[in-house]
Amino acid sequence: MLPVDPARFLDDLNDLRRFGASGVGKGVSRPAFTEPDIAARDWLASRMAEAGLTPHFDPVGSLFGLAEGRSLLMGSHSDSQPEGGWLDGALGVIAALEVARAAREAGGPPVSVVSFEDEEGRFGVTTGSSVWAGNQTLEGADALVDPAGHRFADMRAAFGDRRGDFVDPTRFSGFVEMHIEQGPVLDSTGGTLGVVEAIVGIRDMHMSFGGQQNHAGTTPMALRKDAFQALAAFNGLLQERFANVVAPSTVWTIGHVALHPNAASIVPGRVRFSMQWRDGDTDRLARMEEIIRRTAEEVAAARGMTLDFGPMLGLDPVTMDAGLRGALERAAEAEAPGAWRVMPSGALHDSTNVARLMPVAMLFVPSIGGISHDFAEDTAEADLVSGLNCLARAVAALD
Ligand code: GLV
Ligand code: MN
Ligand code: MN
Repeated sequence: MLPVDPARFLDDLNDLRRFGASGVGKGVSRPAFTEPDIAARDWLASRMAEAGLTPHFDPVGSLFGLAEGRSLLMGSHSDSQPEGGWLDGALGVIAALEVARAAREAGGPPVSVVSFEDEEGRFGVTTGSSVWAGNQTLEGADALVDPAGHRFADMRAAFGDRRGDFVDPTRFSGFVEMHIEQGPVLDSTGGTLGVVEAIVGIRDMHMSFGGQQNHAGTTPMALRKDAFQALAAFNGLLQERFANVVAPSTVWTIGHVALHPNAASIVPGRVRFSMQWRDGDTDRLARMEEIIRRTAEEVAAARGMTLDFGPMLGLDPVTMDAGLRGALERAAEAEAPGAWRVMPSGALHDSTNVARLMPVAMLFVPSIGGISHDFAEDTAEADLVSGLNCLARAVAALD
């Protein structure tokens, strides 16, 4: 096992939490390209340099701490959701930093560290790693717009002349990402560690219904083209029509809704909303897309309203590399005998993209109460350290 230092690891993890601290519990608000995100990356770059790694920002703001020669890449992301937890992404980055430091102190093996930018999808879906891995072109990403109308192309310019070229992925032998589970399985079964077998696929797009904005007192119900009512009808039909198609693990979410003009005495004339669905089966994702498009078209036609679909972003399900996964399984059994399991990931991760480039494996630690994407997200300190130790064992064994 590499000589990792749990106290140094926890100190760094707590230091990173200061950037964008929400003031609510341990939560953070550190979306990609905001001032706290950029400040956190500058701090991380200095910690990487102190660890003997060469910090390197790529054109979209993903930060690498490069070891010399061929190395194992480890990490995750340090941007957060608008209301995010302190561990989502940050845990994998700081654990990677500690393992890289310990590996250097032990005389090898070389470990590089990465914090990908915009994993949380302010603009797209895992944007930084998606562009790096070629799941999306830089031109395509540049055209993406966040809910407030900012363009990815303009936002990534905020990193200015810190940025260099894209890092050549062939310098890495593989990628290992530790993450909190962000779900209830480990916490509710008393598990300490989860070794991921596969990550589900995702489809994500914005849609809009357009009707007629009008006076809420004078417009008879029968004459209204109310955008909110269209969305409500669409959502109701969707629940019914999905019933025959989905599996218990299938999920779908309308998480962002912009109703225009969003005023009590105005029949809303427009609604733009996000439509996201996830499943481990690509065919099921396609059948759900068909239902979504057909149902929206029917609702719009029945109400004499317009309908627009934005571009659909998507990542297909991926399985983890058997060799790297085996190393994590053996390390998990040594670290937490009988208290670990093999499990799928329902959350998306940078690993999905990186799997296009090199062998990839992932390790989970429990989320208390299964809560994540919320300021309340947390994990017991002992579990954070077990995860770190498991990585330290696995990386030593891989050498
Ligand atoms: C990433 O945070 C996701 O939405 O799964
Ligand atoms: Mn994450
Ligand atoms: Mn997240």
